[in-house]
Amino acid sequence: MNEYLNRGIKEIIEEFPEVEDVLNDYDIGCGPCSVGICLLKDIVAIHRLPQDQEQQLMARIAKVIHPDKDIRIPQAEKKVLTRSEEFNYSPPMKKLVDEHVVIKRWIALIPEFAKNLDVESEGGRRLILDGIDLIRSYADKYHHAKEEDILFKYFDEEADIIKVMLQDHTHGRALVKEMLAALEKRDAKTIAANLMAYRELLTEHIRKEDEILYPWMDNQLSTRQVGELFAKFDEVDRQIDVSPGTYEVFIAQLEKKFA
Ligand SMILES: [Fe+2]
Ligand SMILES: [Fe+2]
Repeated sequence: MNEYLNRGIKEIIEEFPEVEDVLNDYDIGCGPCSVGICLLKDIVAIHRLPQDQEQQLMARIAKVIHPDKDIRIPQAEKKVLTRSEEFNYSPPMKKLVDEHVVIKRWIALIPEFAKNLDVESEGGRRLILDGIDLIRSYADKYHHAKEEDILFKYFDEEADIIKVMLQDHTHGRALVKEMLAALEKRDAKTIAANLMAYRELLTEHIRKEDEILYPWMDNQLSTRQVGELFAKFDEVDRQIDVSPGTYEVFIAQLEKKFA
């Protein structure tokens, strides 16, 4: 079993597809995750399973891999998380997670926003443009730029996990393009469909970053690199021509309107 603990979970699922069903029983969706950085021994740490469930899960996986043996389950290492309920993010990673909170507030508003699109009046189109601008300026230019231009540079950009994240960013940009083209044509239905697709994309993207990518990255970064990242993020915030406060006001107004 020990040899499997240090193997990638995707590889194990390929060899033993039943392992995916076991993981699904514990709400750990490794199959569709497509990220592929986690070793079997990291799975419980990353997904924050309680001790008893962790033992149970590992025992069931061991049974799938070695159905005829009685395997003693080694205690999984808890190297990513603290005992607290929260992930123990480093300060620069926490900054990105806080930016996700703003994006998630916008994402939560999208269904209602998409239902009420007014493409005919000047004011209605302005509001739609403001919503799209939040995605383009805050989520993409301000937030994704920090990830792409700074954070990801500390890692192998050919790694599957980074490639998946970059693909998501590119997909988001394509959806914005569609929204703008649809707005030109005053096509509310297509704008709404693209907004909803963006919501779905970013919900999963942010979950992967918050729960898997950032804790994993934090684990790899040295203390010096963490400090460097913090300083670089700070520099971007000071230089960039995006004022995050504007978007928070926009979100707060919509939250009030749809309350
Ligand atoms: Fe991202
Ligand atoms: Fe992000």
